[in-house]
Amino acid sequence: MTQQATRYNNTAIIFHWLTAILIIGMLGLGKFMTTLDQTSALRFSLTQWHKSFGLLILALSLARLGWRLVHRAPGLPVTMGAWERLAAHLSHLFFYILILFLPISGWLMVSASPLNISTFFFNVVKIPHLPWLSDAPNREELAVNFLLAHEYASIALVVLLVLHISAAIRHQFILRDKLMTRMTLDLNDKRFISGLKQFTGVCFVVVVGSWLFVAGSRYETVEKNSNSASGIIEGNRGDAHGALNDWRRAEVNYTLLLMGDELTGSFSAARAVALLNLNNPEKSTLNAVVETASGMTGTPQVDDTLPSSAWFDSIQFPEATFTSIAFSPSSATSWMVTGKLKIRDVERTIVLPMDIDLDTGTAYGRFTINRLDFDVGTAEQPGDSQAGLNVVIDFKVNFNAANNN
Ligand code: HEM
Repeated sequence: MTQQATRYNNTAIIFHWLTAILIIGMLGLGKFMTTLDQTSALRFSLTQWHKSFGLLILALSLARLGWRLVHRAPGLPVTMGAWERLAAHLSHLFFYILILFLPISGWLMVSASPLNISTFFFNVVKIPHLPWLSDAPNREELAVNFLLAHEYASIALVVLLVLHISAAIRHQFILRDKLMTRMTLDLNDKRFISGLKQFTGVCFVVVVGSWLFVAGSRYETVEKNSNSASGIIEGNRGDAHGALNDWRRAEVNYTLLLMGDELTGSFSAARAVALLNLNNPEKSTLNAVVETASGMTGTPQVDDTLPSSAWFDSIQFPEATFTSIAFSPSSATSWMVTGKLKIRDVERTIVLPMDIDLDTGTAYGRFTINRLDFDVGTAEQPGDSQAGLNVVIDFKVNFNAANNN
């Protein structure tokens, strides 16, 4: 007859303490971050960490549950009465339910949220929203209900934790039945050391593998963007946008307020063709094209949201364009340019200041637009509580000068 184990095995013990530390930290983090102002940058950033750690807990809990299903737990001590056994079994069952329900309800909440903020696992791997919620008609109501479920589950988990810890203290200090040792690591056990080495090895391979995969796909995107931009410089795409077949790469950067903090980004694929007639400014032309999907801020949640349908809708409207109409110089090197700016399917006439540097052959300027005027983000964020309405755009283009009359 095989002897029944009296303690949990080392893997179960590592799972227990790892998830315990993470979950207790998450309960504190969740409570703390929700006391901060909705528009605070710290709250935004802590929520992103919260989502990553929550998904890590979900993965660990699933692995832990899988391990538990194929490895029997040690039997409870015979000294325990019937009600104590029932209470122990029920509390373990509720723990499993809650540690799965909490992250899943959080994931449901962010998937239903009309704010559509993407989830990046530790800012690296994109975790998709749960699909059936993105098109639901009552997303706001659903998100609020999932938030309530998340909150109530967190309260239930705190209650369960208090009961669980109280029971452990009772066994350790009142009954003194050494029940705690069933769940403590035996650091002298050789199997523990070799198990830990294996665990560390697997983590290392997974981390390096994921890093290589992500770095590889980023490199591909950068390559693709730069190729498409340079292809146009060399490809003579002079057409309706310009009189001269001389498209050059342009610098277009933007700044907006996100949660009260300034966020700056730039379009890696922007090009312009500028023919400035210095003697006869009204004969000048300036046309620019920006590939809307190429705008990068370095904040993955924002970079992923900008090309989506509510913002630039880069699939339907891959390019934003500027086409000059008139030029009026206020001095030889400071001009006002009137032109049509088209973003998505909205075209508006704007006037922008432009300075000319004759030595370097560049023209540059800065102007501000209201994103709602171009229907950018109107559906998701009609107010400025999270993403500001005003967007400051800086540009720099190379020009060809003509002095003829
Ligand atoms: C075991 C894992 C988790 C625990 C213990 C936990 C705990 C909590 C707690 C205590 C709160 C504060 C609730 C309140 O009082 O309003 C909270 C909020 C929140 N949780 Fe979690 N959470 C977990 C996993 C997740 C996951 C996986 C996600 C998303 C992928 C998530 C998303 C959120 C969000 C977005 C909020 C803030 C809601 C708001 O801003 O009003 N959570 N969480």
